Amino acid sequence: MSKFVFLNTRYVEFKDAKIHIEDRGFQFSDSVYEVIKVINNNLFDFDYHMGRLKYSTKELKFNIKIDNIFFNKIFINLIKKNRLTNGIVYLQITRGEQPREHAYKKNLKPNIIAYTSKKKFNFPNKNFKGYKAITYPDIRWGRPDIKTTSLLANILAASEASNKAAYETILFKNNKITEASHSNVWIIKKNKIITHPATREILKGVTRTLLINIIKSLEINFEEREFSINELYKSDEVFITSTGSLITPIIKIDKIKINNGKIGQVTKFLALSFYKAII
Ligand code: PDD
Repeated sequence: MSKFVFLNTRYVEFKDAKIHIEDRGFQFSDSVYEVIKVINNNLFDFDYHMGRLKYSTKELKFNIKIDNIFFNKIFINLIKKNRLTNGIVYLQITRGEQPREHAYKKNLKPNIIAYTSKKKFNFPNKNFKGYKAITYPDIRWGRPDIKTTSLLANILAASEASNKAAYETILFKNNKITEASHSNVWIIKKNKIITHPATREILKGVTRTLLINIIKSLEINFEEREFSINELYKSDEVFITSTGSLITPIIKIDKIKINNGKIGQVTKFLALSFYKAII
């Protein structure tokens, strides 16, 4: 747990970081967030995360102008103050406080919190690990492309995986895979890499964007399209991407082994290419 938290204007100790009970983030999940990775004391892909934060706050009409310099300074200070080597910076911005009412008042003052936590990443070295996933219906609200803390459906799905000793829950809607409870999903079939298009049905992951850039620069066969549960089960390889998971192989889905339950060559190659590109 981190020692210091940034709260609106100042750095306070974790135990002193308090938010009002009529904060709309607390009462209505009227809030957005970002998770940014820190590796060897360095913050990664900051501009991409700020770009998505701008999108989220704009789509929800929050009364805030995202200032990259302001946030960069806070994140760097937190990494230093909390002596973070490997882990994440968590940023949450709520719409603000008002007497409880569904409709929001204009010009509320957003609450901003940021803190860090340690994390062991699944790097593609000798300890590179493949995991089991399960499938579960995608019952989320209609705008999962906005990174809000309205994550009830995601946490139910993730907890289902946890109950079944699986790492992640892959979501399906009308028999099509959208993404996973906290990551994007990719399949490989006959050396073609496939992932769901960045529509309003998925979160456009920063890791996803970075990996697509790498795939394009390497001129690898790639397609953004929907795929079915059946295609998922019959894939040569499956992996997920996110800030916390980087590129993580999925070697079993429900009762079905993928690539005989082993990490595939293409996944390993992509994970290594990604690692080299960021470090
Ligand atoms: N999760 N899809 C969903 C539903 C997510 O929650 C996430 C990230 C992603 C991947 O996005 P990115 O590559 O930008 O991390 C896709 C974060 C890490 C979380 O909720 O902790």
